[in-house]
Amino acid sequence: MLVSGPPIYLEHITAAKREKARRNAIQLAEQVDNLIIDHHLLRCEEGFRFLDKLSSKTGNKIICAADFMGYSRCPLEAQRKSLYQEMPVPSDWHKNYACGKVKAEDFLTSKGNITMKNDLNVSKRVSEIPKSAIHEMTRLSQQIEDVAFLSWAKPTSGTPEHINEAAISAIKNGKVGGYSTSDGIMELREEIVKKLIRDNNVDADVSQILITVGAIEGLAAAVMALIDPGDEVILPTPTYSTHIRQVILASGKPVLVPLKEQAGFALDIEAVEAAITPKTKAVMYCSPSNPTGTVFPEEQLRKLASVALENELMVITDEAYEYFVFDGNKHFSIASIPEMKGNVVSCYTFTKTYAMTGWRIGYLHSHERLIPQIKKAHIPFAICAPVVSQYAALGALKGSQQCVKDFRDHYLKTRNLMCERLDRLNSVFEYQKPGGSYLMFPRILLTEGIDSTSFCKKLLKEGKVSTTPGIAFGPTGESHLRLSFCVSEGMINKAFDRMEDYYL
Ligand SMILES: Cc1ncc(COP(=O)(O)O)c(C=O)c1O
Repeated sequence: MLVSGPPIYLEHITAAKREKARRNAIQLAEQVDNLIIDHHLLRCEEGFRFLDKLSSKTGNKIICAADFMGYSRCPLEAQRKSLYQEMPVPSDWHKNYACGKVKAEDFLTSKGNITMKNDLNVSKRVSEIPKSAIHEMTRLSQQIEDVAFLSWAKPTSGTPEHINEAAISAIKNGKVGGYSTSDGIMELREEIVKKLIRDNNVDADVSQILITVGAIEGLAAAVMALIDPGDEVILPTPTYSTHIRQVILASGKPVLVPLKEQAGFALDIEAVEAAITPKTKAVMYCSPSNPTGTVFPEEQLRKLASVALENELMVITDEAYEYFVFDGNKHFSIASIPEMKGNVVSCYTFTKTYAMTGWRIGYLHSHERLIPQIKKAHIPFAICAPVVSQYAALGALKGSQQCVKDFRDHYLKTRNLMCERLDRLNSVFEYQKPGGSYLMFPRILLTEGIDSTSFCKKLLKEGKVSTTPGIAFGPTGESHLRLSFCVSEGMINKAFDRMEDYYL
């Protein structure tokens, strides 16, 4: 992305125009990793300060196009150019840019070289989606040596051995070289039916099961199948940002309804009801929740079901953390309410339960008449879920479930440790104890917490602790940060020792 100099700082244009140019620059900068700058910005204090702010706000690397540097005769510019990486550019790029043949967005950087692409033709839907803060923090964390990492919701334990063995045996027996049916292999769907009856109290049939590429692809296919452009989807927030993006990708409109933080990030049923309009098509939630760790209780979900039925809404659930609940909380699947049979798509995954993130395997359950419709979206996205992973998942369901219990016991221990360590930092954070998942969402009490992105970037850079800014989970997530406790106790202690040194 190229940030052009003059409109951003020149005094002879109106303040309103200048402001607009700056807003555009910030918006574009949020979508890219690097900023290629026009040398004019180095020539005056105002432009220079703007650049500094822009890069610290977005974490972008500033690169100065080499031929701009070449133009420079200004002492201020010469003094500052050492601050930024210089980059060679194709000989005619400036000329093309200046005469408008090439747009700012047409400059891409790759491995230190600028490549020009004349027309990216990116859809409005995609260009509206901001850069993922989670992946951005990962990228920045990789630049810090010996970082204490609390920013990924990814189990750090490996996949249990009996699951690996099931996959190896399927490979050896020549079962995985071709596609499966797009619904997934029958034996796996039959095991899932047993699991849904046993653990979710959902009376399912194989015709109601679709094996998907993780929960994510199931959710994406469900959203695609249900949402028309302009349809509104209510999402209690803070929530997993991927859900919001999936609605945008379907050209739907996410309607964000705040959770009640002081009640432990509880569902606000009255607020959900108040947000319903004639355009509302669905409610989408995850419980146990990413990022807050809230487990929505049965009583609240029954009320939500009544609201959905009354207003003829669909409910799309993400139950990725279903097995990780603590302190007597119980996971409740809204699909277990018989009246909801035609109104729910429930998405599940092997990712969290069996530490299988990389296998990309999950499934969804819905009405047997909806499955063929959802499949119309599933097939163009995936054809079928990876077959080797389907056999691994079969091994997971048929084998011992002790690993799930062991994971839960570990997360309970690490949750308790994280809460104890947070108690010692009570001048910096205030938290709601998570009843499930392996995530928590403390509020930042320091004034600088108002901008959670800057706060987390500073903590990473100066305190060497990687966390996720709360804003990544919707506007109500601002002034918070997400911490993952799916790590070792050693990692939690290391991160909190550093935070104590840094803040106290
Ligand atoms: C709420 C939630 N849903 C889904 C996923 C991803 O699931 P999968 O790997 O099955 O696609 C995550 C991963 O972090 C998550 O937090």
